[in-house]
Amino acid sequence: MHIIPVRLTKGRGHAYDVVVGPGLLEELPARLAGLGGGGDLFLITDATVNRLYGRALAAACERTGVRTLLLEVPAGEGSKNADLVFRLQTELLTHGVHRGSLVVALGGGVVGDLAGFTAATVLRGVPFVQVPTTLLAQVDSSVGGKVGIDHPSGKNLIGAFCQPRAVFIDPRFLASLSERQFRNGLAEVVKIASALDASFFAFLRSRAHRLVRTNVRLLEHIIARSVALKGAVVERDEFERDLRRSLNLGHTIGHALEAASGYRLQHGEAVSVGMAAEAGFAVRLGLMTRGEQRRLCALLVALGLPVRFPGVRDRARFLAALALDKKGVAGKARFVLPAGIGVCALGVEVPREMIEQLLDGA
Ligand SMILES: NC(=O)c1ccc[n+]([C@@H]2O[C@H](COP(=O)([O-])OP(=O)(O)OC[C@H]3O[C@@H](n4cnc5c(N)ncnc54)[C@H](O)[C@@H]3O)[C@@H](O)[C@H]2O)c1
Ligand SMILES: [Zn+2]
Repeated sequence: MHIIPVRLTKGRGHAYDVVVGPGLLEELPARLAGLGGGGDLFLITDATVNRLYGRALAAACERTGVRTLLLEVPAGEGSKNADLVFRLQTELLTHGVHRGSLVVALGGGVVGDLAGFTAATVLRGVPFVQVPTTLLAQVDSSVGGKVGIDHPSGKNLIGAFCQPRAVFIDPRFLASLSERQFRNGLAEVVKIASALDASFFAFLRSRAHRLVRTNVRLLEHIIARSVALKGAVVERDEFERDLRRSLNLGHTIGHALEAASGYRLQHGEAVSVGMAAEAGFAVRLGLMTRGEQRRLCALLVALGLPVRFPGVRDRARFLAALALDKKGVAGKARFVLPAGIGVCALGVEVPREMIEQLLDGA
């Protein structure tokens, strides 16, 4: 069992623990009962996770004597919308939510963002706990306190910074995840290592062939290390003024690709291609050697992730997503670029020609 404290001093000033270990699922009812302030437990989950774990967990919580309301939302990104937040808030209010209640987000990043935002806004904030069940959510979205929903004009545009009371991560949840979802999460692990820690990167290279959904011990280690690295960044820059931007490595190109592909490409896949493309920029700008770029791409490929930049039909949408103007006047996009392995450079201006060449496949 790993316990990783996240201590925030500048924001609301509280600290919380991220607990990582196989077997946590069984301990959850007791741990949740210990965290609540005597009120009810509101367990929010999606349809898939509910079927797999939600109902059983709710029943186990009830057995500890805590009244538990199980709230299910449809699975998928489409659930991150304002109507659903309102519906969840209404359920919570109807059932007498108060500041001694505890909202539990059981699921992937979608449930974490949605339930977290609901908890952050109802009664101006009730305590919530993250129980992430996808690798992406375990290594990335559940830690750091960003919660929110999508808006018709873009993803994650409505939200708040609101830290959870605790995060409980059981790597055994990953056994039921699809292979594609699992690899998506691995892209974020590589991102964290490439941006922040060369020795973690070397560790991943040496274990790539053993990184499968059921290798619980290895996963526990990798999740704990990712969380510790991300947590340390969040402690120093909770509101993403500077350092936290390093966690956007691969995401500038990645987000633009996701948008231009009409979200056919999954997030982790787009981030993987984004990291490879941004490493290409870094080499040309003299920030990274070709050898380092090759090592980064080789690790992504070894983990089953794509690195080739695909043809982009909707160039305008891609460039718009990079905040480059559509009329051909020289626009400027600022990137987080790798500056070697385990280090990155923030706010680097990439010349527009380089981006055009990427789109031309040059
Ligand atoms: N808040 C942040 O800091 C932050 C960071 C990164 C990403 N995000 C957000 O996270 C979301 C993506 O998260 P995600 O990739 O976890 O997607 P997701 O929550 O949609 O989960 C992916 C799919 O896996 C299923 N699933 C979840 N756990 C499972 C399990 N253990 N076994 C079987 N199936 C399971 C879900 O039902 C869903 O269909 C995006 O909305 C993104 O914006 C937020
Ligand atoms: Zn991401």
